[in-house]
Amino acid sequence: MRLFTTVAGLRCYLHLRRSEQELAGTKLADVNPVTVGLVPTMGALHRGHLSLIHRARQDNHLVVVSIFVNPLQFGVNEDFQIYPRTLEQDQQQCEQADVDLVFAPTASELYGTDASVNNALTQVLPPAAAIASLCGRFRPGHFEGVATVVTKLLNLVQPDRAYFGQKDAQQVAIVRRVVADLNVPVEIVSCPIVREVSGLALSSRNQYLTEEERSQATVLYRSLQQAEQLFRAGNLKSSDLLTAVQAELTTTPALKPEYVELVDPVTLAPLERVEESGLLAIAAHIGSTRLIDNVVLRNRQPILAIDGPAGVGKSTVVRQVAQTLGLLHLDTGAMYRAITWLVMQSGVALDDQPAIAELVSQCQLELENQVKSLLSTPKVWVNGQDVTLAIRSAEVTAHVSTIAAQPAVRRSLVKQQQQYGRKGGIVMDGRDIGTSVFPDAELKIFLTASVQERARRRQLDLKNQGQPEVNLEELERTIYERDRKDSTRSIAPLRKAEDAIEIQTDQLTIDEVVAKIVSLYHQRLASLPKNY
Ligand code: PAJ
Repeated sequence: MRLFTTVAGLRCYLHLRRSEQELAGTKLADVNPVTVGLVPTMGALHRGHLSLIHRARQDNHLVVVSIFVNPLQFGVNEDFQIYPRTLEQDQQQCEQADVDLVFAPTASELYGTDASVNNALTQVLPPAAAIASLCGRFRPGHFEGVATVVTKLLNLVQPDRAYFGQKDAQQVAIVRRVVADLNVPVEIVSCPIVREVSGLALSSRNQYLTEEERSQATVLYRSLQQAEQLFRAGNLKSSDLLTAVQAELTTTPALKPEYVELVDPVTLAPLERVEESGLLAIAAHIGSTRLIDNVVLRNRQPILAIDGPAGVGKSTVVRQVAQTLGLLHLDTGAMYRAITWLVMQSGVALDDQPAIAELVSQCQLELENQVKSLLSTPKVWVNGQDVTLAIRSAEVTAHVSTIAAQPAVRRSLVKQQQQYGRKGGIVMDGRDIGTSVFPDAELKIFLTASVQERARRRQLDLKNQGQPEVNLEELERTIYERDRKDSTRSIAPLRKAEDAIEIQTDQLTIDEVVAKIVSLYHQRLASLPKNY
């Protein structure tokens, strides 16, 4: 692991590592570009930060952690001077977490001028509406400081992905907004809140707490849970949910609430009622320490995400599961096929990625997502034209993986898949549904089967289709190679989500797999709130 404190060192190192890896990639005839993940922090690292680093490590070739206590985001009476600075320990933790590079500049290195001098810097201003609620209301200038430093870090590192904790929910929403509004080419990944057993959300600021305060601080999460319970019982009204939080908070007079609010998780505008989802957030002081916490309340039917390697039998299983449970089924494979058909139809070359990107972003894709019968194929339309049969042609099959590997295609379709899934009540299968399309799906299944078994199934399929016989070893080699490519590709690599339930299907029939998933779904449903 390397440590850099200057912009010059950071840039030079990243440049070298990128070209080194690209070179290695060319030698292996690997078309995947090198991906870089950035985890911005202010140091004093704890398990919350490490969860971000861990996730970045899983997703990328190179992981950069920045450690910088950003003066710009602290108010005059805030804790900038005393904020814990533990660079040496942080470095050790990063080393252990297999980080490639730590970037720890000084303020003058990063801002090139005294950052405390007003108006001496170009700053990034998030939209007024986004900073009018929650912490924005009580920390004037804070999110301008965050938006500015994050934009600078994104420009310096130019990562493919940047990782933020849901702990700072307003920060994630604002960073997403800044990145979208300024067209910064990065994917923002938000990671769940890591808590102590007591429920207290980990924070570098917890170091300020005395033993007694630390135990008093647990009321924050308890109060959110009270509201969550009420919500689960079917109460979606903001005023009732907020009252429930406040009632619990009053049990600990040492804690002085700054705000308790329920807002839209994306726009951060206050909500009267939770229609789809709501961010319930608190800030409070205990002694001289300011703490924040939140939960997201989701009012939707559950989402069932089924991922797994090629040839494991996902599509058959998923259709049966959807029919049995009366869920919608979004055939994500059909979406990629439809785009492939469109590309071929338009006469655009399959490797003309910019032209394909334009085509995808202008096309109207519609899918029938009710599984009426297992025998009929659900209908698919592209720009109003029924392409249900056309997308199953051998030509489309031959080219679909080339098209699906293109980042612009992926981005556009993932967005549409997320849109389809917004209200839940749906099952989707793919390679990245539980990890990237719906990381918060209520039930995630990861179907696997050994390479040998998948080769055997494939051989049987081919035989049943009357195709010429292919030898088993050759099929195994192809599947093995496909797995390797799928799991190492930079876009949506195949990976089991940590909270996914793995089902090994070698010894199971399709019906047995379906029955298992249906039963897991019922179990999960029983543990969910009433308004699900
Ligand atoms: P810092 O407070 O050090 O947090 C760095 C990242 O770790 C943030 O994305 C934060 O949300 C995440 N994080 C902190 N505690 C967490 C927990 N308990 N569970 C999950 N994630 C957690 O946030 C900042 O620094 C700064 O504002 C920064 C983005 C670096 C800009 O200066």
